[in-house]
Amino acid sequence: MVDSSDVENFWTRGDIHSRIHKAMSEAGLNDKKLEIEDLFPIDQYHARGIAATVDLGKRMPIQENQKIIDIGCGLGGPARYFAKQFQCFITGIDITSSFVEIGNRFNKLTSMSNSVSLQVGNGETLNFENETFDGGYSQHVTMNIKNRKKFFLEAYRVLKKGTFFAFSEHGLGPERNPIFPLPWADTSEMSFLLPPESTISLLKEIGFYDIQIIETSEKYILGYEKMINTKPEKVEPILGIHVIGGTTMKQRSINSMKSIKEKRTLPFEIVCKK
Ligand SMILES: C[S@@+](CC[C@H](N)C(=O)[O-])C[C@H]1O[C@@H](n2cnc3c(N)ncnc32)[C@H](O)[C@@H]1O
Repeated sequence: MVDSSDVENFWTRGDIHSRIHKAMSEAGLNDKKLEIEDLFPIDQYHARGIAATVDLGKRMPIQENQKIIDIGCGLGGPARYFAKQFQCFITGIDITSSFVEIGNRFNKLTSMSNSVSLQVGNGETLNFENETFDGGYSQHVTMNIKNRKKFFLEAYRVLKKGTFFAFSEHGLGPERNPIFPLPWADTSEMSFLLPPESTISLLKEIGFYDIQIIETSEKYILGYEKMINTKPEKVEPILGIHVIGGTTMKQRSINSMKSIKEKRTLPFEIVCKK
């Protein structure tokens, strides 16, 4: 059984505040006004980093001044990127309170607090009225969601009619049995992967329509190879996903890459309509 403190510990891996402070000070970023781009190496907490966020953004029909929800916003990196790119307002929620705290500090440092606001919350029980948002997305979160139906029902509930929902995830591949530990779970206790066709059926059952899926295996394999195959003599950059993911991040990424190559997992993006 996994409880909420296990989830917090899994994502933060000890004193994340100190690790970030140290890395930012070594990179010369502490105590100064920042551009959102300065934080991309540490605030895009998913495989392929900012490149994956940019790709998802190209598929989302966000208009200026719209109110968008980010479910499982992490440190708010994707939210800041989309808010700047589309001139929209983003409310992010995440179950990991340290991420929300750091993310809101990053909003201040990058002067984005007027357009991005992050709060602690659970994607399975959203604390918003029905039909609040003009669109929503969730980047690499659903692998941790045991009750997918509840999660998608909640996303559906808080979206206005005629809007969109987009998400990316690692689905279960035809060979099943992913290799643990993975970037989103050390063991199967925190990992709830579904074959993409089951996810599509569930979305349809809930009422989402015009479901567009694209598989992203090749892109992810290339992204992981780039991250993993750094030459041994090459010093790790000061800012990088390892600052957040800790010392096991590399091995977890290797396992994720192997799992995709062996068709145990299958990453994809979905954009659909309510
Ligand atoms: C791989 S990170 C992705 C973070 C962010 N979406 C990004 O792309 O940078 C997964 C995030 O999902 C969050 N999460 C996991 N289960 C959640 C839940 N039930 N409700 C809200 N957030 C959740 C974790 O705390 C973590 O921040």
